Amino acid sequence: MKMNRKSVLRAAALGMSLSLALGTGSGLAEQETSPWWKKTVAYEIYVKSFKDSNGDGIGDLRGILSELDYLQEMNVGAVWLTPCYASPQADNGYDVADYYAIDPVYGTMEDMEELIGEAAKRGIRIVMDLVFNHTSRENAWFLESKASRDGEKSDWYIWADPREDGSAPNNWRSIFGGSAWEYVESRGQYYLHTFLPEQPDLNWENPEVRAALTDVARFWLDKGVGGFRMDAVTYIKKPAGFPDGVPDAKDGTAGIHGMTANTEGILDFLREFKANVRENADIFTVGEANGVPAEDLPLWVGPDGVFDMIFEFGHVLVDLPDEMNWCNVRPWTLPEWKAFFSKSQETTGSTGGWVPVFLENHDQPRSVSHFLPQDADRVLGAKALAVLLMTLRGTPFIMQGEELGFVNVAWESIDAYNDVSTKNHYAFALGEGYSAEEALKGVHRFARDSARTPMQWDDSPQAGFTSGTPWMPVYDDFKVYNAKSEAADGNSVLNTYRALARLRQEHEELTEGSYLEQMHDHGQIFAFERETQEAKALVLINLSTAPAAYDASMTEGAERIFGTLPESGQGVLQPLEAVVYEFR
Ligand code: NOJ
Repeated sequence: MKMNRKSVLRAAALGMSLSLALGTGSGLAEQETSPWWKKTVAYEIYVKSFKDSNGDGIGDLRGILSELDYLQEMNVGAVWLTPCYASPQADNGYDVADYYAIDPVYGTMEDMEELIGEAAKRGIRIVMDLVFNHTSRENAWFLESKASRDGEKSDWYIWADPREDGSAPNNWRSIFGGSAWEYVESRGQYYLHTFLPEQPDLNWENPEVRAALTDVARFWLDKGVGGFRMDAVTYIKKPAGFPDGVPDAKDGTAGIHGMTANTEGILDFLREFKANVRENADIFTVGEANGVPAEDLPLWVGPDGVFDMIFEFGHVLVDLPDEMNWCNVRPWTLPEWKAFFSKSQETTGSTGGWVPVFLENHDQPRSVSHFLPQDADRVLGAKALAVLLMTLRGTPFIMQGEELGFVNVAWESIDAYNDVSTKNHYAFALGEGYSAEEALKGVHRFARDSARTPMQWDDSPQAGFTSGTPWMPVYDDFKVYNAKSEAADGNSVLNTYRALARLRQEHEELTEGSYLEQMHDHGQIFAFERETQEAKALVLINLSTAPAAYDASMTEGAERIFGTLPESGQGVLQPLEAVVYEFR
């Protein structure tokens, strides 16, 4: 390897801090022993929509088995499966009736074992979604709990007496809208549900509940999974006494998120979980942690944290000041958006933590529709976002379809939408006084359905997703945007992802390097450096639809190792152009 004077000096400086940092868990100490999940690319599969093997219109495990090579070609090393446990599907599987069984629509436990084994042969580990804040209302635990006030599991869920007038114990509004409490005749009490009434919250204060959940996680560890994503984990602890919140909706309710997210004491539960499940297992854990302030990150991730990574939501909520109100869209600037990433990159980088980088998931709009100007070229825009996703410090999480450049659906009627939360948000908007047209606009912008339409494999009927009738319509752009045609087109979004995955493997600084933002105030370009002792990459991404200038001396002496457009000189980026330079 060639070393110039500058890089020798840099290496010396870094070498010094390496010796100081060893054992402290800083970014550099990690470099010595980087676990597999820091170097890999993760991919989220929305099981219901990925691939149907039996013609019932619903994706399943055998469907996933048939497409493992597709994932391997993108160098995917971890696949997060949305919940495929037995479930009545009130919230598409996030209402678990039995954590120890696969829902028959998705297959059998043998299929799951085969999937874990076949994936492993390709270097891919399966990551299970642990939905532990709540269960289904049909879970045997809940059926027992609701039967009486003095049974063995009476205290496994969160029960409270009505107020004197018989109304709900407090004014909390569930995340999907409506009161967060549901009355049950048999106990003469209400139970709490952070999400749907079909999803009663478990009572983590009860040690038996925590032990039962630990058993579930261990069961899946024994099956050989490579990690866990922990659903809605910031809500597991509720404030004592269930105080009323300040109403923030016309019906007098207060969003439960503001009342229960990240309640004091939650980390004790999670430390216990880590000790019982995470320690000594060659897996990663990633918490879905909406509501954790960036300054608290060291308590949540890294050597002293409770998870290996957490999903933070600042950057995806940049335009949504009130998550319930999809009509209240906030204008935002690029520097503001960059600050969310940089804050978490810097905090985790300096405390030995790690980031799951994501722009989409099954709850979010498609990133091309979400973060780019309306006049953005779809393919170029998707490539620019791909460069961002794949070069920030952390483990990139690609949402199925993101690698093909999917965009939001915009169906003409709310009836065309499937997701219960979409329908509730629409109703909430009408209740707040917005017109049907405005409410639908919000749906087009934020509906979770956009991330859940069936995967588009080829240009055959139903995009090769199913031989039957899909549970949700295939988006009508599938003739152009599908895996088969994009695989054949060297210039496609898919091939950009594949190339970026290779680039990460070939240039270690993109996986192991530190992060340093550049040109923070630039309103069009997202720029940052990734640096190890051997090399430094400079990533420049123009997220606007106009040419963007930067100081050409920044890239002097560097080699251009990646670009989404043919090279056109230094000092200016074409609309939506992204480039990566390397200094050695
Ligand atoms: C977060 C999940 O990602 C979402 O899809 C689900 O509806 C809620 N948690 C409730 O489990």
